[in-house]
Amino acid sequence: MDDDDDDVPQLSAHTLAALQEFYLEQQQREGTKTSQGFNQYSVGSIEENWQLSQFWYSDETASCLANEAIVAAGKGGRIACVSAPSVYQKLKERDDKDFSVVILEYDRRFSVYGEEFIFYDYNNPLNLPENLLPHSFDIVIADPPYLSEECLQKTAETIRYLTKGKILLCTGAVMEEQAAKHLSVKICKFIPKHSRNLANEFRCYTNYASGLD
Ligand SMILES: C[S@@+](CC[C@H](N)C(=O)[O-])C[C@H]1O[C@@H](n2cnc3c(N)ncnc32)[C@H](O)[C@@H]1O
Repeated sequence: MDDDDDDVPQLSAHTLAALQEFYLEQQQREGTKTSQGFNQYSVGSIEENWQLSQFWYSDETASCLANEAIVAAGKGGRIACVSAPSVYQKLKERDDKDFSVVILEYDRRFSVYGEEFIFYDYNNPLNLPENLLPHSFDIVIADPPYLSEECLQKTAETIRYLTKGKILLCTGAVMEEQAAKHLSVKICKFIPKHSRNLANEFRCYTNYASGLD
């Protein structure tokens, strides 16, 4: 007689207990979030994964950047958030239908946002869906995952492809020169804050007269 069970990989009792504990903690975290008034667009509703260089903005900073995007995009404007999911979430939290927004992200957990989610890997900066037409966004907001010129240069290719003109870049203060070189953006007075303290100083850069100065 064929015993299929022989082929099923078995977890040790110890691994199984650790797994159960993990899922229980996860359920408790989700439950706490719901009871604290989190909704599907709350910043932090999808937890940071440091392996993907994810550091979410504070709620206040995400709101400031979302407001800036709306003003810069204008009535009926189109906004693209490139590797900046908190700004996308803040925009979606607003009960304002006078703009549209898409999220370009590497982390597929954000695909819960349906058609507005576009898978994006900065290593293939122009590998984008055909319906994402060149120069079709009134403003592009981007926060590249790494503080390297290579990452900035490739992300800049995507930004230049998508934008009609306006660019809002958030990255380390150390990237000021490279940001000017690849995107002709200037540093703003506004200091973005994160939900956790980061070792690196972060700044915003724009190529237009923004409300962040
Ligand atoms: C420094 S975080 C910026 C997040 C921003 N502070 C926020 O709160 O929305 C970098 C972002 O890049 C994304 N990312 C990681 N690897 C990527 C890749 N290969 N291509 C594009 N984006 C990537 C991360 O998932 C993360 O959302």
